Amino acid sequence: MNIALLGFGTIGSGVYELINLNKGKFGSNFTDLESRKSSPVITKVLERDITKDLGDSVGVVVTDPKEILEDDSIGLVIALMGGMDFEYEMIKACLKAGKHVVTANKAVISEYFAELLTLAEENGVVLRYEASVGGGIPIIGSLKEEMKINRVTEIKGILNGTTNFILSKMTEEGAGFAETLALAQSIGFAEADPTADVEGYDVSRKLSILSSMAYEGIIRDEDVYKRGITDIRAVDIEMTSSLGYVVKYLGHSILDGKCDVYTTVEPVLFKEVSMMSNVNSEFNIISITGDIIGELQFYGKGAGKDATANAVVGDALYILNIVGEENLPRPLRLNRNLNKMGTGLF
Ligand code: HSE
Repeated sequence: MNIALLGFGTIGSGVYELINLNKGKFGSNFTDLESRKSSPVITKVLERDITKDLGDSVGVVVTDPKEILEDDSIGLVIALMGGMDFEYEMIKACLKAGKHVVTANKAVISEYFAELLTLAEENGVVLRYEASVGGGIPIIGSLKEEMKINRVTEIKGILNGTTNFILSKMTEEGAGFAETLALAQSIGFAEADPTADVEGYDVSRKLSILSSMAYEGIIRDEDVYKRGITDIRAVDIEMTSSLGYVVKYLGHSILDGKCDVYTTVEPVLFKEVSMMSNVNSEFNIISITGDIIGELQFYGKGAGKDATANAVVGDALYILNIVGEENLPRPLRLNRNLNKMGTGLF
């Protein structure tokens, strides 16, 4: 089984490097390429630009998706182009062509969760998406495997490094939102267009994936109540701080009873002494409450080349060594009575 990469940007090159460095850890499934027995081989990289420099990669650049879809030697496709429509169509086509897929694309996974899982099952292949939530934090695998026998009833997370960096800086330096965003952009921390981060779309996509998995149904990104952080002023932070609270941007969902789900993405207050209030800068934290295990907290780097590539390669390893099963979604009721979520004071 050979591997194809869709995209050779920051994460794609990180994935290539990690696979290359860890050849010995891959299973014996890679025996069909005579010259590289038991080693994973990225043979093709789909890129828009044929002149893309792949460094010392053994793969060749292709621009036509058919070069991957019609290549029977490719059994695993790692989709890292980002964006929505093209990557969604490619993931679908790969699954239909009987190829396993690993992706970091939270927009595609959150929007087409049920469809893609069903397609994978129908075609007898595996779809993995660990890197779509929490970067290097192994939250998807933990929910799917380690917490499988728990009934999960609550998810809370600081799931966006950009906004956590901005709020941490505003707290530390008493600065306003606009100037802190400009600082984050100038040091490459925030995107030139920060809308998805500061308006909550990035968090709601991650929260919808976690909630869909944990509650075994479908919560879509558009179902999540969102409030951005753009109207938070330096004076708000100063006042809350004087009262012993810290402002954090929280993704929060609750499963009540059998199928009532409440979901919010909004700035909230945590007491200074809490775990959540001490997660600073680009770090993420995710808290999951299960009926057997109680509350678990996962903390780590939520983005970046190495952390994300680590999650992607972990998924690739899983597929190459063990082919597992997925739960299909069940109907859930989205409850709009958000009083259940409390006052936003934590
Ligand atoms: N923009 C995202 C963040 C990247 O700041 O966390 C990881 O999804």
